[in-house]
This record gives sequence, structure tokens and C-alpha cells, in this order.
Amino acid sequence: MKILGIGSALPKKVVSNDDLAEYMDTSDEWIRERTGIVNRHIAVDETTTSLSVEAVKRALAAAKVSGEEIDLIIAATVSSDYIYPTLSCEVQAAIGAKNATAFDIGAGCSGFLFALGTADGYFRTGRYKKAVILGAETLSKMMDWTDRSTCVLFGDGAGAAVLSAEGEQLKAMTQGSNGFEGMVLKCNNRPVNNLFRPLGPQTYSFTEMNGQAVYKFAVRTVPGAITKVLEEAHMSVDEVKLFVLHQANKRIIEAVAKRLGQSMDKFPTNMEKCGNISAASVPTLLDQLLEEGRIQAGDKIVLAGFGAGLTWGACALEW
Ligand code: UT7
Repeated sequence: MKILGIGSALPKKVVSNDDLAEYMDTSDEWIRERTGIVNRHIAVDETTTSLSVEAVKRALAAAKVSGEEIDLIIAATVSSDYIYPTLSCEVQAAIGAKNATAFDIGAGCSGFLFALGTADGYFRTGRYKKAVILGAETLSKMMDWTDRSTCVLFGDGAGAAVLSAEGEQLKAMTQGSNGFEGMVLKCNNRPVNNLFRPLGPQTYSFTEMNGQAVYKFAVRTVPGAITKVLEEAHMSVDEVKLFVLHQANKRIIEAVAKRLGQSMDKFPTNMEKCGNISAASVPTLLDQLLEEGRIQAGDKIVLAGFGAGLTWGACALEW
């Protein structure tokens, strides 16, 4: 497969660490030092669907592909606007992709990597030729805004890619899950509540996280996943031009760089501007890197995601 074009979209409202400090007991210093995050975009008028449609239209324009040519749409999200219909079906209608099969997947912050792996599998059946994959979140609505240990970390946004089955860009891919430790990062859905087990009116649940457990998981798992794809792709770690990692936390990225024996110059970040946008972080960062001309034909690039589930995914690409 080959990536033909990338697009992204962020909400207009930018919220700084100092802005948050006006509402809760936190500080720019604490957030910046522990996470590298300075600003995040927060949806006010935007929705997961509107951001997705904007990102997908940009990706289609970059790829010079029409909606009608798309035969597969996979949206990775944990914060869609409807339980059903799916985000991918809403995107299908908005771009006129009448020939597409569309479905969502949930793999937390690894979602974009899982969508990429799924599209690759579909391409290998020979039945699909051109796909849109996207990661899109409005996680701000999943936050308990009185919990400073989580709400300062996340932001909203969407990133999308148009893929073709023809091409040799994807050299290796790995994905994994560890549901045994899944409860360290969770948000409850509706509980069982019906005529036979009435619970009465329910309030929403919000994100709960054991930050240190997630941190340890990421630092333990991501270097191994990257090493695995590099071995399968017959690429040396030094040959890789850029490591485009999920933007959860700068300290996690620094620890991964150290374990791989690589300079942080090869690990671009955008968490300073966007915070953690979960499934949207990898495609949004890729879009920014392409716009800045930092990725050229022939470059060897590694993508990696990790997060709720727990899940992780990594792939090696030759652009
Ligand atoms: O996509 C995956 C998403 N998840 C992650 O990336 C999470 C990975 N984990 C982390 O990045 C870190 O664990 C955090 C940044 C979430 C937290 O850093 P930490 O060094 O593990 O801090 P901590 O939870 O041990 O808290 C240290 C202190 C506590 O105060 P006390 O008990 O020592 O007095 C917290 O109450 O920092 C306090 N604290 C804050 N202080 C100011 C927690 N949140 C904040 C805050 N502002 N926003």
C-alpha cells in the first residue's frame, strides 16, 4: 500500500496551560515539565464529525482522489458524536463516497495504527483499492474538568490519510493488545439499565487514568514494537529519518529515543501545540511534517501508537 495524501483539522479555540491555571490548581510549569504540553485545541463549535470531514477533505485534495473513488473508510475514534451511526458512515455521506464500506474501530491512542493495519489487511484480500483512514477525537467531552491529573493532558482534533492498495510503502507492521492491564485507562459506557434492571437516570462517566501505569507500559512496549518492525523491514534504526510517535507525553518520547539510542531530533513532536489527541495525533503530526517538507520520497519513517486497551502498534514505511 501507499499513502497518497494526508490532511488534518484542529478546533479554533486554543487553550494554554496558563488558561487552565485560571480554572484549577495547576501551573504552566507543572504541565510543561511533566508532559511537554503547552497548548491544546478544544472544540467549541466543532464536533468529531466536523473535524473528521475537514481532515478527510484535505487528505482527498492532497491525494487528488475523489470521494467516489474511495471503497473503504475506517475511522478510529473513542469519542464519536453518535453511538450509531458510526463516524465513518457520517464521513462517507459528507464526501460522497457511495462506493465505500465504512466502519469504526476503537483502539484508543493506537487507533490510527490499527486503522492502517486493518486497511492493509483489506487491501490484501484484493477486494479494496482505495481507502480513507482517520483518527479523530473530541476527548474534551470525555474529561472530568475537576480532575487536574487528566484534563490538562488531552486535546481535540482529527487526522486522515488516503491510501492506495498499489504501492510498496508499508515495509512492516506490528500490533498488540494487553487487556489484562486495560483498566489503568478507562471511561465507562452506559451500564446495564433496562426494564429488568432499572438503575434510574444515569450521569456521564469520564476518563480515569493511572498515569504512572500508562507511562510504564508505553516506555516498556514501544521500543520493542519499533525494534520488531525494523527487523522485519530489514531497516537499521540509524537509517530511520523520523520516528512519528503518538504524542502523549514528551518524557515518554525521550525515554523511547534513549532506549533506541537515537537523538531527539529524529522524534518530532506537536504535543506542545495540540496536547494528546489520541488517535488523531500521529496523522496530525504527519500532516505537519509533510507541510514543512521534512518528509521526502525515499525517507524511512517509523510510526508508533500506544494507549487505551492497552494497545500498541508500529510500522515502518519507506515514503
Ligand atoms: O495516550 C496515553 C495517555 N496517557 C498518558 O500519556 C499518561 C502517561 N503518564 C504521564 O504522563 C504521567 O504519569 C502524568 C503526566 C499523567 C503524571 O505525572 P507523574 O509524574 O506521574 O505525577 P503523579 O501522578 O505522580 O502526581 C505527582 C503530583 C501529585 O501531587 P502529590 O500527591 O505529590 O502532592 C498530583 O496530585 O502532581 C500532582 N498533580 C498535579 N499538579 C499540578 C497531578 N496533576 C497535576 C496538575 N497540576 N495538572
